[in-house]
Amino acid sequence: MGSTVIEVRGGRALHGEVRVEGAKNSVLKLMAASLLAPGVSRITNVPTISDIGVMAEVIGGLGALVVRSDHELTVDATTLTSFEAPYEMVSRMRASIAVLGPLVARLGQAKVAMPGGCNIGSRKIDMHIRGLQELGVRIEFGHGYIHATAPEGLKGADVMLDFPSVGATENLLMAAVLAEGTTVIDNAAREPEIADLTAFLVGMGADIQGAGSPTITVTGVDALHPVEHRVVGDRIEAGTFLVAGALCGGPVTVRGFNPKHLELVLTKLRAAGCEVIVLPDGVTIERTSIARPVDVQTLPYPGFPTDMQAQFMALMALSDGDCIITENVFENRFMFADELVRMGADVRIEAHHAIVKGVRGLSGAPVRSPDLRGGAALVLAALVAEGCTRINDVHHIERGYERFVEKLAALGADIVMKADTMGTASDGCEE
Ligand code: EPZ
Repeated sequence: MGSTVIEVRGGRALHGEVRVEGAKNSVLKLMAASLLAPGVSRITNVPTISDIGVMAEVIGGLGALVVRSDHELTVDATTLTSFEAPYEMVSRMRASIAVLGPLVARLGQAKVAMPGGCNIGSRKIDMHIRGLQELGVRIEFGHGYIHATAPEGLKGADVMLDFPSVGATENLLMAAVLAEGTTVIDNAAREPEIADLTAFLVGMGADIQGAGSPTITVTGVDALHPVEHRVVGDRIEAGTFLVAGALCGGPVTVRGFNPKHLELVLTKLRAAGCEVIVLPDGVTIERTSIARPVDVQTLPYPGFPTDMQAQFMALMALSDGDCIITENVFENRFMFADELVRMGADVRIEAHHAIVKGVRGLSGAPVRSPDLRGGAALVLAALVAEGCTRINDVHHIERGYERFVEKLAALGADIVMKADTMGTASDGCEE
């Protein structure tokens, strides 16, 4: 069957309440961390998104038994029958690299395909590799695979990361918990998903201090046990819906996440002229005047999240002035801008800066989702574009957003997902 597309007829007011799911960028690593202990771990508040299915296949291929039901899943990692994460899996989802640390810690070896780049950047893993080597892992490369072995087991060490890499911090955490002795990870990532993974590991019996700070200290233990854990709310899904409310006016209330995990995004939305009311488990947003231009620099947490860069650019495209959006985390994360320009935005890319000149309005057009967050941001832009917009390649969006179309429709958007058929009207939608 052909691919599916999302069609949006812009101009509708959005208001009401939406609840976000558990964080994609946490749950994928919790599934990998389940491999560290024999027995059955249970994870709740799990989003029903396609990446979960891929990770279930990856750890299933290692011998773990994954059972999913609604927004919960269990991982029975009693018997692991393989230490290999094959290319056809890892190439579908880079986050599969998160099994490297747990496999080496539990089995003393791992064979994981090199994840390769993706369309937002080269996505290197040199910090993962160097950190594991400092923990006593021998690493060899061959035929597109990483071969990791630790015949004498893992030894705690002091590791300094060149950059607070989320993935490297996570892999090193999941290896260090079973290493002999103490590991200190310096310049560690501070994202809330790291704290969520740490809570999961501590629940398994690990000894970890300092999660959320740049210095994490892990004291290795001999063994871990299964755990039950509720995934932290998805701050990026929440931010995406907050920008939807800001674009369409609102008021829109987004629940199911910790507003403290989006501090800088809320600050920037206020600077853009939105009224932002923080609730105990969410935020209400409303915009009653034209958005003001606000400069943004993406940085590791607690800086402005790179995963919110495209969504914020959609809002700035309709502001009453000029601003500069700087992408400091990934080297190629402005492809969304090219599609937004097709809808009438005025964005010029200079190296890792996007110079955004606000325009009075956007117009519906056929556009292509370049990646997960860029795709979501195109849907947001379509909500306020004049006429109809058709977004192709929506599989990117389905990787990280559960029921995205339904949730926006429930807020009042005129949006549908449908099978792709030939022919589009001049405004980007089918006759
Ligand atoms: C995680 O990716 C997230 N993905 C990304 O979300 C998120 O954008 C990113 O963290 C930053 O917050 C998942 O959690 C599955 P990094 P990760 O290691 O771990 C370079 C989304 O849309 N780097 O912090 O890959 C790397 O190339 C996705 O949900 C090295 O050079 O992020 C990148 O430029 C997109 N060497 C930068 O660091 C390394 O060894 C940040 O990467 C590791 C990373």
